[in-house]
Amino acid sequence: MKELNFARHRRLRTSESMRALVRETHLHKEDLIYPIFIIDGENIKNEIPSMPGIYQLSMDKLGEEMDEVAALGIKSVILFGVPFEHDKDPQGSGAFHHNGLVQEGTRFVKKNYPDILVIADTCLCEYTDHGHCGLVEGEKILNDESLDLLVRTAISQAEAGADIIAPSNMMDGFVTAIRTGLDEAGYQDIPIMSYSVKYASAFYGPFRDAANGAPQFGDRKTYQMDPANRLEAFREAESDVEEGADFLIVKPALSYLDVIRDVKNSFTLPIVAYNVSGEYSMVKAAAQNGWIDEKAIVLETLTSMKRAGADLIITYFSKDVARWIN
Ligand code: PBG
Repeated sequence: MKELNFARHRRLRTSESMRALVRETHLHKEDLIYPIFIIDGENIKNEIPSMPGIYQLSMDKLGEEMDEVAALGIKSVILFGVPFEHDKDPQGSGAFHHNGLVQEGTRFVKKNYPDILVIADTCLCEYTDHGHCGLVEGEKILNDESLDLLVRTAISQAEAGADIIAPSNMMDGFVTAIRTGLDEAGYQDIPIMSYSVKYASAFYGPFRDAANGAPQFGDRKTYQMDPANRLEAFREAESDVEEGADFLIVKPALSYLDVIRDVKNSFTLPIVAYNVSGEYSMVKAAAQNGWIDEKAIVLETLTSMKRAGADLIITYFSKDVARWIN
């Protein structure tokens, strides 16, 4: 044995203290962004069947949820609106209504929890009767005509006090349109967290239950990206950077860790991984069956996203993780 010369990697794994000393990646509460679904109506707390533990909440229930978020030390939330079906229209005008769900939710959070950052999801699909993220003509999703509605949505969210605007609709040019619109309206200091690299993914299935926003015809493949493509992610991210984005989101996360790493290596903006609804549902379902150790799986997957290069993670597990970290 004496003449053998090999590396003793196990020296740095001998105890939990030793492992902690050399650990390269850490999850912090500050990394977590918690999504909240605000539904129209009163006294509603609907658990989403495909997302156990996640609720559609009416405005009067938002306080309870926010108390929990604040007590756990979570520092940012992203708000989605779930309007009545009869309030939907072809333009998605509920998205930019002065008293819309995200706008009112933003006012509530900023008034009562001023230190918590509000990120407003800026999209039309929850508010359009056809369920697409832009205006439609026949079966075609119109690009440039949709931009004006997004700009109006972003400005109304900024007016309500949103700290960050997060456009998710994947129309070309949305960052430059929204940046210009915000600047002209006096919101030069409001950053844009762009859903820059967003794939047309089956992992969004449960979200569409949560937000009642499934497209009524066709799919989103003419605006969201093909999961087979890698180089296209550089093109999307590059144009968003040029147009003035302040954060770049990669979505989904788990099947796209390679893309997170690519984007991290090529750009200097903060990178956000969106650990989407389907990723949450799969873990919950397996855990409820007793097939996996939920806590260990969640911490491992979220740590993997950070290791891949994510600085921040939008995740439905935020409250659980904050609890475990505490
Ligand atoms: C709206 C939007 C979607 C998600 C976030 N914003 C759905 C979609 O684009 O189809 C998905 C989030 C999730 O699955 O958790 N455009």
